[in-house]
Amino acid sequence: MALVGEALLSGSIKVMCDKIASGQFMDFFRARRLDHSLVDKLKVKLMTLHAVLNDAEEKQIVNRAVGMWLDELKHAVFDAEDLVDEIDTEASRRKAKDQTKKTQVWNFLSTSRKPFNYKGMNGRIEVLFNKLEDLANQKDILGLRGGVVGKVSQRTPTTSVVEDGFCTYGRDGCKEKLKALLLLSDNESSSNFSVVPIVGMGGVGKTTLAQLLYNDEQVKEHFDSNAWVCVSEQYEGLRVIKTLIEEITKKPCDILEMNYLEVQLRQQLMGKRFLLVLDDLWNENYGDWDRLRTLFTYGAKGSKVIVTTRSRRVASIVHNTIPIHDLEKLSDEDCWLLLAKHAFRNENPGAHPDLVEIGKEIACKCDGLPLAAKTLGGLLSCNLDYKEWNHILNSNLWDPPHADSVLPSLRLSYHYLPTYLKRCFAYCSIFSKDYEFEKENVILLWMAEGLVPQAENEKAMEEVGAEKFT
Ligand SMILES: Nc1ncnc2c1ncn2[C@@H]1O[C@H](COP(=O)(O)OP(=O)(O)OP(=O)(O)O)[C@@H](O)[C@H]1O
Ligand SMILES: [Mg+2]
Repeated sequence: MALVGEALLSGSIKVMCDKIASGQFMDFFRARRLDHSLVDKLKVKLMTLHAVLNDAEEKQIVNRAVGMWLDELKHAVFDAEDLVDEIDTEASRRKAKDQTKKTQVWNFLSTSRKPFNYKGMNGRIEVLFNKLEDLANQKDILGLRGGVVGKVSQRTPTTSVVEDGFCTYGRDGCKEKLKALLLLSDNESSSNFSVVPIVGMGGVGKTTLAQLLYNDEQVKEHFDSNAWVCVSEQYEGLRVIKTLIEEITKKPCDILEMNYLEVQLRQQLMGKRFLLVLDDLWNENYGDWDRLRTLFTYGAKGSKVIVTTRSRRVASIVHNTIPIHDLEKLSDEDCWLLLAKHAFRNENPGAHPDLVEIGKEIACKCDGLPLAAKTLGGLLSCNLDYKEWNHILNSNLWDPPHADSVLPSLRLSYHYLPTYLKRCFAYCSIFSKDYEFEKENVILLWMAEGLVPQAENEKAMEEVGAEKFT
């Protein structure tokens, strides 16, 4: 099943659940004496299935049965979507009739509709519910695990802590280069602090590199104060500053008032050579950055702020004296070492000589992405069997020629995008490969599909859409 399939599926389920829960939907059921509890049950079942989508998306890579289950789910969800749309359109039509009588909207809705079949409705909902229930039972048999409903792709915030003896591959060169920059005293620089921007695609190892630098003994000793904050996609200035204060003072801070927090952070940084890590920054708002930057100027010369981000635009906004560091992919050899470490659970690959060559071939397919190598290694570890590995190597999963297939390495990178961006990204898949689309038109289409969060007015929504585009 296509990568974009899951995102559209997730989006469809979310949109459907919102519609079912809407006042318009409920009013319609109440007024027509239809059984709303049936659609409520349908909604709960959809949400249960939604919760395991992420797990299924990952497991289908090595488990054919999960792929087939996802296909069936896709068909059931599309049927449900048709049904919910039908009801929603009829509900809108009724509402328009009640409110606007003979306006243009009412005329259009009246002439363009198929007659609505109230009688068959309960039966259709029940058939769908039974299908979804079957799929929900199968999910347990397939061992699919759920996250928190509605937050399936939320990741655990990163921290500076790495496991004891954590070993990384292929990063010695860039670690030494960036470490040397961190240790520069910058006496001639006009700014008290320098930003070290690390940019790269999802899963290429930006956070890992930042952890390596942050935990380096020489680096630790060089700075007076250190703090790590995982910013992630929802930028909350208050939380970022509060976390920085707590990290530096090693005490909880309960006062959530911006002015107080800014004064506190300024005091904590004043005259100190600090090292801060802002991990996973997505915010492109220059005003937010400028506010933080102002506080950082109170530190001593030689202070550094490591910023990791997937976005080159974010990197350009934050960078000052040090050039942006583009994090390269790993070599195939390093990918293999990483894959083998997770596949054989630290055991020597020599204990499975039949899997070495084929394992190396699979590692090449990871296209240098450590996240892909690690995830595949973990999945392969469940089945240390040549036939199974060979099946994975030769599966059409890796073939780019299919219009709807995406390399698993990219699939995984995409897998960890925030859900709302996944949906916008997936929507672009409706355009053919060489189609040059206009940004503004895509944003309008996203808005029409309900993929851009509601904003105060149309203009604001367009701006929100434009932010997602970059
Ligand atoms: N050089 C490496 N050696 C071993 N494992 C690595 C290496 N780089 C990354 N990893 C592993 O790959 C996974 C993804 O890496 P990481 O989280 O650093 O990526 P990222 O670039 O920060 O991704 P994102 O953009 O999603 O935040 C992590 O689990 C990490 O342990
Ligand atoms: Mg990261």
